[in-house]
Amino acid sequence: MKTLYLDAKNENATNVSAEILKKGGLVAIPTETVYGLAANALDGEAVKKIFIAKGRPQDNPLIVHVASLEEIEPLVEKVDPRLYSLAEKYWPGPLTVIMKKSPLIPDEVCAGLDTVAIRMPSHPVAREIIKKSGLPLAAPSANASGKPSPTKASHVAQDLEGKIDAIVDGGECSVGVESTVVTLATTPPTLLRPGGITPAQLEDVLGEIQISHAVFEKLREGEKVQSPGMKYKHYAPKAAVTIIKGSFEKYEKFLKAQKIETCAVCFEGEGKNFDKFIEYGKANDSLTQARHIFDALRKVDEMKCERAFVRCPVTTGVGLAVYNRLIRACGFRVIRL
Ligand code: TXA
Ligand code: MG
Repeated sequence: MKTLYLDAKNENATNVSAEILKKGGLVAIPTETVYGLAANALDGEAVKKIFIAKGRPQDNPLIVHVASLEEIEPLVEKVDPRLYSLAEKYWPGPLTVIMKKSPLIPDEVCAGLDTVAIRMPSHPVAREIIKKSGLPLAAPSANASGKPSPTKASHVAQDLEGKIDAIVDGGECSVGVESTVVTLATTPPTLLRPGGITPAQLEDVLGEIQISHAVFEKLREGEKVQSPGMKYKHYAPKAAVTIIKGSFEKYEKFLKAQKIETCAVCFEGEGKNFDKFIEYGKANDSLTQARHIFDALRKVDEMKCERAFVRCPVTTGVGLAVYNRLIRACGFRVIRL
């Protein structure tokens, strides 16, 4: 299949995308978090193609994207009133909310669960494509399953060129990590995946929430998961990557003592101390770290590094999302100096 490249600066890009989606095709679209691989969420056959293109395990459900609150009612059993409070503060934006689904949602979307994940993105191009197609769009991150999520159109092309109908290039994603996922189907609500909306922001609206232990830790063998995405190896470059906790001075000494070639994945301004390095964001600034972490993980392989040591991000606020992605990319290898 030839993948069409569409520049979002060209007004026709969103029209062409909407037409492809209405015909049951797949289009990679920019969102404020990461690029998404979109299909008509109400068409099980179209949704199946997403799983094939990504090589995604079939038991991992997808997020449904809408552009307005009115679109949600038919998709869920009943709109939880707390959804409106969350929407008022955080939508459109990097938050996904899980509720009991309606029969309209095909099994392919929710992987056989009785719930559906819904998000209203803020990216103007994503919003225009949803509106012009007139459809709710199922869209996982537009990477090959297991790879770091795509925050640039070129990342999508690396993984999915020739496998999907089109890629819309809307430049770099501003948040850089996937949305926060919270389920209202448990009491109290459970944070399943940290992202651009922080636990404290959720608690402002919802009161007490619980945080799934899978956010911080490896799942136990055979453990039943609330969010199937948590159990797969994720975001991982081919290289062996390890997180290093401790001061920059200790980090530098540790790396320089290594006998085999290693790549330093560090913060802005620190790279000059090493032969091979990739910088991701500023020290103590989670927002810039979030924006660059996936690109940095892809660069580890592009630079043909076999081993990389990553400076540990701050783990509070949006930093929790950066840390959550990194420990998965590192296969939970963390060294404390
Ligand atoms: O920011 C984002 O959320 C991006 C952009 C494209 O919107 N999308 C994204 O989708 O990250 P994906 O498929 O890569 O991640 C969806 C996550 C997975 O961990 C999945 O297991 C979980 O949400 N999920 C989806 N539906 C669920 C459900 N009904 N119950 C529990 N977890 C669910
Ligand atoms: Mg993903």
